[in-house]
Amino acid sequence: MAIIFDLDGVIVDTTRYHYLAWKKLADELGIPFTESDNEHFKGVSRRRCLEILLEIGNTSMSESEFESCLVRKNEDYLVYVETMNEEEILPGVPEVLNHLKQRNVPMALGSASKNARVILEKVGLLSYFQAIVDGTQVTAAKPDPEVFLQAADFLNAENEMCIVFEDAQAGIEAANKAGMTSIGIGEKEILGHADYVFTDFNEMGIDWLNDLLEKAG
Ligand code: BG6
Ligand code: MG
Repeated sequence: MAIIFDLDGVIVDTTRYHYLAWKKLADELGIPFTESDNEHFKGVSRRRCLEILLEIGNTSMSESEFESCLVRKNEDYLVYVETMNEEEILPGVPEVLNHLKQRNVPMALGSASKNARVILEKVGLLSYFQAIVDGTQVTAAKPDPEVFLQAADFLNAENEMCIVFEDAQAGIEAANKAGMTSIGIGEKEILGHADYVFTDFNEMGIDWLNDLLEKAG
């Protein structure tokens, strides 16, 4: 078996930082933007997030303005990223990563973020992953399965032998399309399409994960 982890909302708690950076831009553009709108931004590329924001505001902008908004949002986001440390790692993650490393289970990151490497470095987890597939490498964003298919390729694993941890609806859809086992981390009401859902890694527990790995052989 091989395991592919999403980053934002699964390994690190960056959702609030993304939200605050988008909220600032939305305020500047005079577009109403709430935390529940932010749910649709999870797992989705930066570009697609801005498109959704403009849809919410029922407005449009020139391509050059669009590009400059993407840059501004990311600059604001990176100010938060700069302050990140191990405290932003989500509950139970270090235990799961250490356990899988001990068992020699191949691990990859499959994230839509173009900031994935810098964030993993900031929180000291870069060395756990044999492969990192992020927003700089994929052409089709989640819910397209490309990011997970590339990760499986790097790990030399059959799709059916991959387990994906995701916090976003778009990510669960991508994992399911890839024929992988999808495990949602978050709210059951939101991630109902996943094969399994847990509030966090502590609720899942390492014994449960071991059972799943044993069953798959
Ligand atoms: C995903 C987040 O992991 O990365 C999305 O869930 C975000 O909210 C996307 O838009 C792209 O991130 P970045 O860091 O490249 O702007
Ligand atoms: Mg995520």
